[in-house]
Amino acid sequence: MKNFFYGKKRVEESDNIELDLNNMPNHIAIIMDGNGRWAKERNLPRSMGHKAGVEAIREIVKECNKLGIGYLTLYAFSTENWKRPKEEVGALMKLLVEYLRKEFEELNKNNVVINHIGDITKLPQICEELLIESYEKTKNNTGLVMNLALNYGGRDEIIRAFKNMYNDIRCDKLTEEDINDKTISDYLYTSGMPDPDIIIRPSGEQRLSNFLLWQSAYSEFWYSNIKWPDFKKEHLHRAIYDFQNRDRRFGGIK
Ligand code: IPE
Ligand code: IPE
Ligand code: MG
Repeated sequence: MKNFFYGKKRVEESDNIELDLNNMPNHIAIIMDGNGRWAKERNLPRSMGHKAGVEAIREIVKECNKLGIGYLTLYAFSTENWKRPKEEVGALMKLLVEYLRKEFEELNKNNVVINHIGDITKLPQICEELLIESYEKTKNNTGLVMNLALNYGGRDEIIRAFKNMYNDIRCDKLTEEDINDKTISDYLYTSGMPDPDIIIRPSGEQRLSNFLLWQSAYSEFWYSNIKWPDFKKEHLHRAIYDFQNRDRRFGGIK
């Protein structure tokens, strides 16, 4: 596929969308939803939907990297997803291991940082080990930072931050005066990262489901009925294009 650059614009031949390269989101977050319904529509088991969902990740990560996006956060498993049948949870964990093993070389070659957010100590040990190893081996890469949100919950993240702040206050590392917007952000898993500019949720639901509660204060939301396994780079382009045509005021006036 050819890309044409017209000054500061770029046109993808496939979807005919012009993106303003001077106004790209720095952080895109995606709630990868709809795998189960995708499978149901095809009379397949839910696990097949998750498998197709993992496959959809490749194209999106590659495209974000190509577009020079700084951060891509993918909501893959929430703190509430443990409520699902243990077979489904097991299948998801197995897919995570397969994904990391299969995609590592390619991601590393493409300069991607394989990071994670969430309490990964509660995942099966092999998942935790692979996540730590993938991060250690890629942390000095300079391309896209891919955050895999695993056993992630926005409330859980805030509770953890409160506890760590409390401990730091007790040992005089932090004072009441130090507590502000910036310090709270620094106690979150996303410490040092910009807040998401846009949160994409495919599959038709219009809710956050405990995703990036603090960080999403001024994120633009983008919803679509498309199920995550069918989400292609054309949809990503459309989401970015729509984002570029939103009027972000951050409480001020134009
Ligand atoms: C998202 O797809 C994947 C995870 C939550 C792990 P779902 O499994 O939630 O798919 P639906 O919502 O049932 O279609
Ligand atoms: C959110 O989707 C979590 C992930 C995509 C990982 P869910 O399918 O779990 O959310 P609800 O239950 O529809 O809110
Ligand atoms: Mg769902």
